[in-house]
Amino acid sequence: MADNERISTSLNLPVDTRIWPLKRYTDMHRFSIEDPEHFWSEEARKLDWYETWDKVLDWEPPYARWFVGGKLNASYQCVDRHVKTWRKSKVAIYWEGETGETRVLSYSTLYRDVNRFASILEKLGVKKGDKIALYMPMVPELPIFMLAACRIGAVHTVIFSGFSAQAIADRVNDTKAKIIITADGGYRRGKTIKLKEITDEAVQDCPSIERIIVVKRTGEDIPWSEGKDVWLSDLLTDAAKYVEPEPMESTHPLYILYTSGTTGKPKGIVHGTGGYLVYNHSAYKWVFDIREDSVFWCTADVGWVTGHSNIVYAPLSHGAAIVLYEGAPDYPEIDRWWDIIDKYGVTVLYTSPTAIRMFMRSGEKWLEKYDLSTLELLGSVGEPINPEAWEWYYRYIGKERCPIVDTWWQTETGGIMISPTPGIEEIPLKPGSATLPLPGVDAVIVDNDGNEIPPGETGLLIIKKPWPGIMMDIYGDSDRYRETYWSKFPGSYYAGDFAMRDKDGYFWMLGRADEVLKIAGHRIGTAEVESAVISHPSVTEVAVASKPDEIKGDALVLFVTLRENEKPSDELKKEINKHLRENIGPIATADEIYFVDSMPKTRSGKIMRRVLKAVASGQDIGDLTTLEDEGSVEEAKRAYAELLKTKK
Ligand code: PRX
Repeated sequence: MADNERISTSLNLPVDTRIWPLKRYTDMHRFSIEDPEHFWSEEARKLDWYETWDKVLDWEPPYARWFVGGKLNASYQCVDRHVKTWRKSKVAIYWEGETGETRVLSYSTLYRDVNRFASILEKLGVKKGDKIALYMPMVPELPIFMLAACRIGAVHTVIFSGFSAQAIADRVNDTKAKIIITADGGYRRGKTIKLKEITDEAVQDCPSIERIIVVKRTGEDIPWSEGKDVWLSDLLTDAAKYVEPEPMESTHPLYILYTSGTTGKPKGIVHGTGGYLVYNHSAYKWVFDIREDSVFWCTADVGWVTGHSNIVYAPLSHGAAIVLYEGAPDYPEIDRWWDIIDKYGVTVLYTSPTAIRMFMRSGEKWLEKYDLSTLELLGSVGEPINPEAWEWYYRYIGKERCPIVDTWWQTETGGIMISPTPGIEEIPLKPGSATLPLPGVDAVIVDNDGNEIPPGETGLLIIKKPWPGIMMDIYGDSDRYRETYWSKFPGSYYAGDFAMRDKDGYFWMLGRADEVLKIAGHRIGTAEVESAVISHPSVTEVAVASKPDEIKGDALVLFVTLRENEKPSDELKKEINKHLRENIGPIATADEIYFVDSMPKTRSGKIMRRVLKAVASGQDIGDLTTLEDEGSVEEAKRAYAELLKTKK
């Protein structure tokens, strides 16, 4: 059988012979789909297990349990197994603070610290299955605490350090964390963020918190509560040197990470231990083609899933050297990242389209001073990358030498799902396309009724088979888990993204199909923003929309109706934004706030979001070709005209 025919059969697609000389990828993908248990058991053997599994996959939809009966420990995978080899003296983390200081941690230093931190947690009474929260700047103590927690079987929940006190309290109360770890402060664009003060405000409403561990970073004066607060440095004085890693059941939760959904309450995504680690270990190799001498820099914050999987668990499980940078990309100037690449000899850069667009706008002159010749591979994640940004990235950062891996995935998927896989075989690239599903990922595009649609048509992305990285549940809300991901297309995982597959089988990811926004790559639920704004005393109703933004991809726009005696004013707009920052955090700042007399609604009372979007982005209502469930075209046109009339 000719290669092309074989590909056509396995992927069930028409074949373009110029694109499809692929063999290794296709064979591997086909094998993984035809015999997933065999395929994944081979992959799982690349990790160290205390006990081998009895069953590779227990699939009782919608619950997939991987490597059932197996036992392993994530901290062992990421540190212990390296210190038994020459990697003992290899660099694990090159850390650079925003203010210029640096720390270099070898695997043996990391091992020592993970053990000491684990001993501290034990002494404070943290046990297997307990939850601990981390609200920290990007300092080495953050990954160290994550690894220390999983060493003793505790489940961490990392809260992004840009979140507000309210957002921390919501997350801590949902998990009932016993301990929260923070820092006196963090640096951002030369200013300090008062993390301890924010934590104190949050824990006033968190009865489960027994202790606050504080890492010293800025050295500023902070409020202190004797008995509750404790400095990390004081705890370390009598920390033990070694803590035996707890052999964890493969299906035991590793962490809970909150993300936005279509209701006001964030979802606690629960990831398991064995499946998550196996999936990320393999995906990392396939996508980033990582080698022993690679220097890998993922610029995300550890507080997001990208940071969990691609700063901590996947790279460290490979014994890779990573860069961890604390601060803003444009501090003190917009060339900070190029300086870091030059200084540490970064070989793989993994970042977001928003960052690339920001650099693109500031121009190539900022690159001139730096040697970027160590770069071999570039990555993109978090939002669709427009072809202009892709080409700029390729030409000016990669100097037309480095392939770009556009990686599509989600907090829920645990690891990268659709991406070029140079670690398996060079996949011909197309700017703006995430290319092909990873081995084990059975991705298809369907219409609203679940029928596969022909190439070139836009539909919804679903995954037909479980993969090891898949989330285990929504913490404390299995009904929501079932409903959100598994009810629309029973038996298949519904991702909530629009996508298109072209005639070569390449995937083009086209943005969210639900009421979740992506603002500068951050995931924000419209309902979450709305429930924050509605708590402002002047507001009676609010609806959230987005408009295209040159840098952020999308920008947040609010439509607000006011109480009877309230007058629209710029002052009030500022106040609403301040209120949003206090309730969620700076990521939820609105670019525009419009005061309107009433909201555009269907007869059944549903807000017509497409009408809002058209008004927010200055599009004509005529562009609204598909209205889906949001009322008739006539209704929408009327609502559009009405909204334009009253918008202030
Ligand atoms: O809409 C997709 C978009 O980000 C969503 C997932 O967001 P989050 O859980 O915050 O995880 C982001 C990082 C893994 C997806 O549903 N998205 C992510 N990567 C891409 C993307 N959209 C297009 N292309 C991508 N490469």
